[in-house]
Amino acid sequence: MPGALALSSALRAQLRQARRVCVLTGAGASAESGIPTFREAQSGLWARYDPLELATPEAFDRDPALVWTWYRWRRTLVQAAQPNAGHVALAALANRVPELTLITQNVDGLHQQAGSRDIVEFHGNLFVNRCADPACAQETAAICEAEVPRCPHCGDRLRPGVVWFGEAIPGHALQRAQSATEHCDVFISVGTSASVWPAAGLIGAAADAGATVIDINPHETELSATCAHRLIAKSARALPELVDCFARSA
Ligand code: OAD
Repeated sequence: MPGALALSSALRAQLRQARRVCVLTGAGASAESGIPTFREAQSGLWARYDPLELATPEAFDRDPALVWTWYRWRRTLVQAAQPNAGHVALAALANRVPELTLITQNVDGLHQQAGSRDIVEFHGNLFVNRCADPACAQETAAICEAEVPRCPHCGDRLRPGVVWFGEAIPGHALQRAQSATEHCDVFISVGTSASVWPAAGLIGAAADAGATVIDINPHETELSATCAHRLIAKSARALPELVDCFARSA
């Protein structure tokens, strides 16, 4: 039975022959796991909070306790979530192509839970705690329940190990993402509004480097018009079928 995806035979042939694949996921890839996305107003993560009140270094300096309250709430939300069929399909893709680079803007760790390995966490990870002093910057697993946890190494405040607005992407993540983007045969963008840079720039960079670019999103985005192959679908529905088009073994 033909799948719901309207893939041309030419595109199917390209997927079958693909050897180096790059995937960029955004919040939409976790939406079917019950985690609100950022910019869908009615249920969006920010419907309850103003991002500039919380996801910036200035907000943390101004009111670290409030920022920790938000991130503890987000951790509880994510801990109740399970990977969806889209996460599972991407984990399986690693066994079907010689080279897969999975870049995620998400900080929820659901790709890891689904079995993906060696993930490029472009915006960090919600469950990492890092010393707020750049001279220390030690990561700490368990944290005390204090309103603002303290670094066991230097005593400064701990902060969530995520990238805040106005902060640079970790150098190793940016380098790996840019290199994979420039050398891939197929670039799949899933569940992102393509509104936050430099992550959004990877999609155009892949197209400029000659990759076949596929965008999976039920809605239009700022890049929809430039994506050669738009799959207007939800990720948990589209990814299993799309992954099935790749070669059977790496
Ligand atoms: P957004 O909330 O901006 O966009 C989510 C996208 O997912 C939208 O385009 C939706 O149409 C789409 N979507 C919703 N449900 C979907 C589904 N079931 N399947 C596929 N797509 C679906 O989230 P991001 O693009 O990830 O950065 O936002 C990028 C960054 O903005 C985040 O990483 C975060 C935020 O600022 C930082 O915190 C640094």
